[in-house]
Amino acid sequence: MVMIAGASPAQDNAGVVERGKYLAENAIRCQDCHTPKTETGELDKAKWMKGATLDVTPLKTIPKWHKTAPDLTPSGTLWKRWGPAALVTFLETGKGPKGNPADPPMPAYHLSHEDAVAVVEYLKTLN
Ligand code: HEC
Repeated sequence: MVMIAGASPAQDNAGVVERGKYLAENAIRCQDCHTPKTETGELDKAKWMKGATLDVTPLKTIPKWHKTAPDLTPSGTLWKRWGPAALVTFLETGKGPKGNPADPPMPAYHLSHEDAVAVVEYLKTLN
């Protein structure tokens, strides 16, 4: 762990979570695909990153196109199957625990290790 003079480990982690939240919500916008929308078309804050059916379909057939994006919160089955370390690796390499990329339209991200850890620390805070 990187120690910052005068900051407790808890404060350090709060900074990491804040950075992860910024990356996930503002830079990458995971919620656009992974959060369902309400009837009025707003992202449903009560189901934040809980998994969603996409509201876009490709004009031409794209092999393996996924119509749904999974629950990214720790209570979802993905966390139980993968665990946090595999999620970090996935965000760094674009490859899951079996070495496969995700199906489209899930992008293959190549985040730095620090950024991938920050996003996963943020996801940990969701329920
Ligand atoms: C453009 C829409 C889109 C965005 C943006 C997006 N996802 Fe996804 N994601 C998907 C879809 C669709 C799937 C389902 C694909 C699959 O299961 O192979 C998916 C699957 C996943 C999976 C499971 C992959 C697998 O192989 O089972 C993880 C983990 C994931 N996304 C994390 C994230 C995170 C974290 C972010 C933000 C950093 C993000 N996604 C942003 C659409 C998106």
